[in-house]
Amino acid sequence: MTAHENKTAQPLVHLGITRPEELSSLFADLRGRFDADCASAHDESSWKQFRDAWLGRKSGVLTQITDSWLKPATPELKRAVGQQLNELRAHVESQIETRRAAIETGAEENALARDRIDLSLPGVVRPVGSHHLIRQVFQEIEDIFFSIGFSIVEGPEIETPYYNFEALNIPEFHPVRDDMDTFYLDLPKGAPTPLLLRTHTSPMQIRTMEKQKPPVRVIVPGKVYRRDNPDATHSFAFHQIEGLAVDTDITFCDFTGTIEYFVKRFFGPSVKTRFRPSYFPFTEPSVEFDVSCPFCGGTGTAAGGGTCSKCKGAAWIELFGAGMVDPAVYGFVNYDPKKVSGFAFGIGIDRLAMLKYGIDDIQIFFQNDVRFLRQFP
Ligand code: PHE
Repeated sequence: MTAHENKTAQPLVHLGITRPEELSSLFADLRGRFDADCASAHDESSWKQFRDAWLGRKSGVLTQITDSWLKPATPELKRAVGQQLNELRAHVESQIETRRAAIETGAEENALARDRIDLSLPGVVRPVGSHHLIRQVFQEIEDIFFSIGFSIVEGPEIETPYYNFEALNIPEFHPVRDDMDTFYLDLPKGAPTPLLLRTHTSPMQIRTMEKQKPPVRVIVPGKVYRRDNPDATHSFAFHQIEGLAVDTDITFCDFTGTIEYFVKRFFGPSVKTRFRPSYFPFTEPSVEFDVSCPFCGGTGTAAGGGTCSKCKGAAWIELFGAGMVDPAVYGFVNYDPKKVSGFAFGIGIDRLAMLKYGIDDIQIFFQNDVRFLRQFP
């Protein structure tokens, strides 16, 4: 127990004080003790202890003075003790508050110093990639067909001849197979069926109709393969989007209207479309869709005069093959050809991307040269 605590627990008479003048040094002493205590409260918890020691209602120093000095004081001392006590109390209260504020700001400053972020440090650069142009074009086309009610399905790149050819009305010795020569997988002897890399996305027409009754409205984005020698317009791997719509009352009109809608959204509203007769074993009639050259406005003449380099002066650009689904195909998927009708199309993505973005060599899509890829962020 410290001296001042000790003293404050005893009545003044025990301390030998009988006259008001004798009080000053007693209180000065206390104030000195208080100031020393105050200076040693450095954090919130020591400050609380210090505050309670001085201001605690039950046994704080000020309460003790009230109880042991003031209350029992003789009438001649009482007034002076009261006055001195009030002065001390004012000092104690204001100092305690000042100390609290100082500790609080100190804590904040410490926290600030601890958490300070050095904004001058160089940041971590995380390179953000982008989709390959082919994927971007896929997405663009998917969005257009998605917006008019088509859903998107995907299928295997390794196919059986049945799905790639036979069920599409291309029997084994049909001459059209020459255009679609492809890669066959080496399989163990006695394998139930040969396997090949699909030459088009059309097998998914069959797989979709096998799984689902009409109405069918799907597009099929994917990779396809052919035994082509690489040059500026040929690659052994390329990309297609198949489209198939089958229902009870789909007409040639629905077909051309849908294609026209797509082409205008892809190339812009001012292009025109036309179709020419063509041949595919799985569509009848079959057509080739052309678009009026979006680069020369369908005139065949380049902006500065001379022949348009894109359409080579033809004013039209061949886009893709399509047609009304051949009734023979419905026989392979248990659809009734008397009840249903529909159309199908197969869009070559690489060709479309080359056209739209002015790329003159298909090989560049597969070379992954970042100088090319960065041009299509
Ligand atoms: N599968 C054909 C091809 O790759 C394109 C096509 C698809 C034609 C659908 C008609 C209907 O050449």
